Parts: sequence; C-alpha cells; structure tokens
Amino acid sequence: MSSSSSKGKTPAKSAKPAKVTVPMIRARKGKSKIAMLTAYDATIARLLDEGGADMLLVGDSLGMVVQGLATTLPVTLEDIIYHTRAVVRGTQRAQVVADMPFMSFQISSEEALKAAGRLVKESGAEAVKLEGGVAVCEHVARIVAAGIPVVGHVGLTPQSVHAMGGFRVQGKGEDAAAKVLQDAKVLQEAGAYCVVLEGVPADLGRRITETVDIPTIGIGAGPHCDGQVLVCYDFLGMFRDFTPKFVKRFAELGDEIVKATQSYVAEVQGGSFPDASQSFGMAKPKSLGEATGAQAVVDPEVPTYGPASDD
Ligand code: KIV
Repeated sequence: MSSSSSKGKTPAKSAKPAKVTVPMIRARKGKSKIAMLTAYDATIARLLDEGGADMLLVGDSLGMVVQGLATTLPVTLEDIIYHTRAVVRGTQRAQVVADMPFMSFQISSEEALKAAGRLVKESGAEAVKLEGGVAVCEHVARIVAAGIPVVGHVGLTPQSVHAMGGFRVQGKGEDAAAKVLQDAKVLQEAGAYCVVLEGVPADLGRRITETVDIPTIGIGAGPHCDGQVLVCYDFLGMFRDFTPKFVKRFAELGDEIVKATQSYVAEVQGGSFPDASQSFGMAKPKSLGEATGAQAVVDPEVPTYGPASDD
C-alpha cells in the first residue's frame, strides 16, 4: 500500500503471532523438536518469545534461581501465580505452563484440581506441570477431566530431593529405568499431553520417547527426546553458583552484567554519568503578555518524565 493511499488511516499493527496450542505440541511428536525454556518475568518472557521458544515454563526452579533458595520445596502457589502473571503479560506466541509447587497437589485429587484451577484462573497459565508418575496419575486425570492441560515430569523430580538423597540421575539400573518408563506411560494414560524427562541416561530418554505417543521434553535426558528445556538463567550464563553437566550456556550474560555494573559504578563515581544528554531542562515559562505581576506557570500539558527528550 502506498503512503498516499494509507494517508489518514491508522497504521497497520504488525500481526500478533498465533499462539502455540496443545494440539500443535502433540502434533510435533517425531516431526519437529520442541524448544521450551523457563521464564519468571515479563521482560525475559518477551525476549524468549521473540526468540522463538515454543513453551515458557514458570518453573518452581524460581525458588533456586530467583529467590536464592537451596531447593524448590519452599516455593508457594502464590509465588507461581505472581510470576506466571508477569510471564503471561510478556508472551504473545509461546504456550505458558505453570509449575505446581510442592504440596499443592500431593495431598488429594481435589487439592490438586483446586490448585491447578487457581493457576489457570488467576495467572492466565495455559497448562500446568506436576512432578511424579504412578503416585500422581489420579490427580492428573482429574485435572485433565476439568479441561486443564497437564505436562508430566518424571525421572529426577527435584521436589523429591530428600528422598533421592540429592539431585541425582535416576533410572540408571534396569529396574529403576523400568520404573521411570512406567511413570511416563501412566501419565500418558491419565491424559498428560507431554512429559518432561529430567536427569535420566540418554538411552532411557530414547526408550521412553520411542515408547510413548506424547512428546517427551528432556533436561539432562539426552538428544533423542522430542524437545528440550533449560532454565533461562542457566542457558543465558547468569546463574553461576554451579553448572550442571546437562547445561549448555548459549550466552555469558553474567559476565556482561558484571562488566556493565563495573562501568556504571566507575562513571557514577567519576561524575561522567549522567551528562547533559541524560538530563532534563526546565519548562519554558508561558508568555505573560503585559507585565501584570502574574507569576510564570509551568504548562501542565508538558510531560515531566518521558522518553529521551525534553519535549
Ligand atoms: O522448575 C523447573 O524449572 C523445571 C524444569 C527444570 C523442567 O521443572
């Protein structure tokens, strides 16, 4: 459209990308790999969404990487609701999945359904994720029956850190592997539309991926899964307390942030920040006409704070 023919019309908004849906995720099985990342706030969510992530998980990992805790166990439903709201606001295309925190679903199917319902109603999540297999399949069926899509999570389940004796790879022996496979199968039967496989040998990741009909999303589960998930602060190189073997840092933003902070501190201390280009001028007094003794007034229409100009 020429500029003359569009004169006077509202400029066309760039089209909103179509949302990733549950049927789209299911249809990716064996066709194209799914890229999931965690996110905890609107700004990072917007960037990950723009970068093409298919699914954004508001993981209870926020307890460790945002709140500075040693485990995910103290994270509350309110914490997840708060962060999911922010992620939903920052996201246009990716599907937003909210994690069900420790003790929000283990007690009974009723409690599980109530908590899942709050996540969808109060935060705008499009699906929920919960840890466990056989032990939670009834809860999963109940949530799915209410129309809430569920992502399963088997293998290394961080909410069971004390029972596992630490964050340890699961399913290494044949019996243990059969148990993880069984967990994934019952989740599929209960209606989960995909399943996270965490901390299992790559061979087991492949075996489960080949056995179940729903997509598997791996984290420390090898390259054969139908998709992968990483914690955003890990893949961006911002969480540097420790780096698990399965993490690949795709950027070193931690180093960049330290460098930028050093420059900021030096400029503040040296007096070179802010300079005139980052400072505001005074408002011009209105013309007073005849000298009447009236006081100059500041134009109330002039914004006092805004983008990079005085106007
Ligand atoms: O809480 C989380 O971020 C997770 C992913 C690591 C799968 O559960």
